[in-house]
Amino acid sequence: MLGRESMETFVTVYGNITVRKLFAGPELEVLEYEYDEGYFYLVAPRSDSGVKTYEVRTGTLRLVAEGKELFPGDLVALESGGEDLHVHVNKGTRLLVHAYRVHALRGTLERMTATDAVLEAIQAKDNFTGEHSLRVQHLVRLMALRMGYSGKLLRHLLDAARFHDVGKVFVPDDILNKPDRLTPEEYEVMKRHVIDGDSLIRGKIEDGEHVWEIIVQHHEHLDGSGYPQGLKGDAISQSSGILAVADAFDAMTAERVYWPVKSVEDAVEELKRHAGLRYDRAAVSTLIEVLKDKGILE
Ligand SMILES: [Fe+2]
Ligand SMILES: [Fe+2]
Repeated sequence: MLGRESMETFVTVYGNITVRKLFAGPELEVLEYEYDEGYFYLVAPRSDSGVKTYEVRTGTLRLVAEGKELFPGDLVALESGGEDLHVHVNKGTRLLVHAYRVHALRGTLERMTATDAVLEAIQAKDNFTGEHSLRVQHLVRLMALRMGYSGKLLRHLLDAARFHDVGKVFVPDDILNKPDRLTPEEYEVMKRHVIDGDSLIRGKIEDGEHVWEIIVQHHEHLDGSGYPQGLKGDAISQSSGILAVADAFDAMTAERVYWPVKSVEDAVEELKRHAGLRYDRAAVSTLIEVLKDKGILE
């Protein structure tokens, strides 16, 4: 959707230019320029990092220095610090102008790259955790949509689901992949994944603070028997409650050679048994609805 349109005509020594503002955002401005016949300059961005593209919509435009003619669909891009471009336009020529502020985009790109790096780290460390995270995110999405999540809240919860076990990259391989039951000491090391992951999330991915608030509670239980803080009841966020149920379901039903895998029915029974004690009731019944809806559960 385009923003509110505004129109202004500028009288220049070269002739008139009518400028319509089609969209104005913090990172991008879209304008349309319409010219009288004459010589003009296409201006390079003045901010210290930006790009402006000029695309011919109608009419023709000639680059004076090169003598080259541009037609509808042709595009010129000018970077900040570059030369303005001297052009000749015919009457009625219209240009579509995109002005990007690159430094704003760069922040977003850096955050995206950081996110990719985190994902690669999980995958490389432990393929199972990588795939488990994807399945949990998928279930969480279906549950959250049913529970009315949207916008930022939904995005934070989905990122939390995707990264909930990211701290496992710090767990030594012999503990992470141990085929037998963990000793109490080893279990303590394993539990640290909900604390240690924060260095990979907070300040690293977009809205990392909010995403981490959800992740850090994904092993808390309503009755206070969870970790790391032993939080109770309302102290655990609804988002973490949803994540905890999807996580537990996948952990019980996913094939990992060395632990007995439960059937979907048995896993659901187990979740029901602990609903209201460990797990949020609404989250458990929503999971059951999702599984029935998908034909996974009768
Ligand atoms: Fe976990
Ligand atoms: Fe998990």
